[in-house]
Amino acid sequence: MRVLGIETSCDETAAAVVTEGGDVLSDVVRSQVALHAPYGGVVPEVAARDHARAVVPVVREALARAGVTAADLDGVAVTSRPGLAGALLVGLQTAKGLAWAAGKPLVGVDHLVGHLLAVFLRRDGARSTPATSAPPTSEEQPAFPYVALLASGGHTAIYRVDGPALGAIRELGATRDDAAGEAFDKVAKLLGLGYPGGPVVDRLAATGDAAAAAEAVPAVMARKESLEFSFSGIKSAVARHVAKRGRPEGQALNDLCAAFQGAVVDALVQKTVRAARAEGIERVVLAGGVAANRGLRAKMAAACARRGLGLFVPPFASCTDNGAMIAYAGALRLAAGERDTLDLAPETRTALPRVTRKGGGVR
Ligand code: KG4
Ligand code: ZN
Repeated sequence: MRVLGIETSCDETAAAVVTEGGDVLSDVVRSQVALHAPYGGVVPEVAARDHARAVVPVVREALARAGVTAADLDGVAVTSRPGLAGALLVGLQTAKGLAWAAGKPLVGVDHLVGHLLAVFLRRDGARSTPATSAPPTSEEQPAFPYVALLASGGHTAIYRVDGPALGAIRELGATRDDAAGEAFDKVAKLLGLGYPGGPVVDRLAATGDAAAAAEAVPAVMARKESLEFSFSGIKSAVARHVAKRGRPEGQALNDLCAAFQGAVVDALVQKTVRAARAEGIERVVLAGGVAANRGLRAKMAAACARRGLGLFVPPFASCTDNGAMIAYAGALRLAAGERDTLDLAPETRTALPRVTRKGGGVR
């Protein structure tokens, strides 16, 4: 089965052709980062207009690189939720037009489900490699069930994944306010480091001393025993620090980045490991753009190794927004006999049941 996937939920226009076995035949991602950079974040109307300009060339390129035409496809998958309504609409209308014209089935995909299944994508024949050797295993991809940390610019949550269907995925805890990537982006903006903030904070943190700036940054544990996150407090702490002392430079800047990143990463690692132990699950998967963070990868690998958990980290291209994860999740829906009609409408919220209330709980 060869399925085209189209993704326009946020600030990447992406399309890919993938088989139901996860083989990536093509994967084209056109980022809007430069377009939004002057505003320090994604501007919804600007995003939608640029998707409208880019989507047809991106789809054409994905088909051409895979060496197929629309007639060769077994279906068209498209992100239908969650995301910016106007941005989602561009992908949906494109997918509907193509599916209708070529006489192919259409399936909507929840963007978060795409992220959670991206670990199965096979790029150049290579699946995600286990990042730790424990527990001893010969498998190259996780078996169900696994516990996944999804941390991106728009979402941060821990899920138990028993299978690819919506009903087999359960949220164990999520952020009550900012997403982890959003915290990186906001702190980078405060420090004058540009957008997106994650990669540059990651780079500066590598030569910083977290202990030297520890007093500026509180731990981000919320209620210690819960699996929920809260990242708005640490952002405000950095804002207060900058208001009082001015923007740090040189080594002091690197130290502050290291302290901030360390606090965010500690919370992500501790809660993910706690979730895996509470569920009695031995496999941990990382997903979302923040999974690129070197501090997170290193600390998660060490924590999983200590506890005998197997850690699976998809390659960077599978962590950040892409069309391949949408095509793959759609292929599994098609293989299960599922279809959507041309009435499929964009939804700003995920279809996954939420257990965490935004703005709720005790900080
Ligand atoms: O998954 P993604 O590409 O898009 C969303 O769905 O949001 O994630 C983008 C987010 C941004 O907030 C960016 O700052 C963050 O991922 N990010 C990182 C790193 N690379 C990207 N955060 C921390 N460290 C990184 N190395
Ligand atoms: Zn995403």
